[in-house]
Amino acid sequence: MKKILILNGPNLNLLGKREPDVYGSQSFEDYFRELQMSFTDHSLVYFQSNHEGALVDKLHEVGFSFDGIVFNAGAYTHTSVALADAIAAIETPVVEVHISNVHRREAFRHHSYLSPICAGIIVGFGLKGYDLAVRALIDAPNS
Ligand code: DQA
Repeated sequence: MKKILILNGPNLNLLGKREPDVYGSQSFEDYFRELQMSFTDHSLVYFQSNHEGALVDKLHEVGFSFDGIVFNAGAYTHTSVALADAIAAIETPVVEVHISNVHRREAFRHHSYLSPICAGIIVGFGLKGYDLAVRALIDAPNS
């Protein structure tokens, strides 16, 4: 049994309501229940915050005991050296996820401070990206 944190950053609490043409019409709470049903042999934990420091704290809290972290940092992806430093500081592998294909969008979304220090990146497959990231972490040889 692997312990995996799904970590969502700012504005992702509004999934289902927020720009549904970009992010879909399902709430994350609803999707998370489906995700847990797909991985009943594993422990999936969900945390969301709109605050950068709370995301840093959560990475520190689980980053030496969990087997993997699936992280959609939202807009902090493109701005946060603090989150990049937190990922570099912990032992647990992190997979970066974006619901939309950020590379088809505005230029300011093309750069990620997190990608160079993440184990992998899944971009543009909608909420399915979280499922793919969990699968990758479960299958990873060293986690
Ligand atoms: C996002 C992409 C980011 O650019 C944006 O700020 C988000 C969501 C995504 O999942 O596609 O909040 O991370």
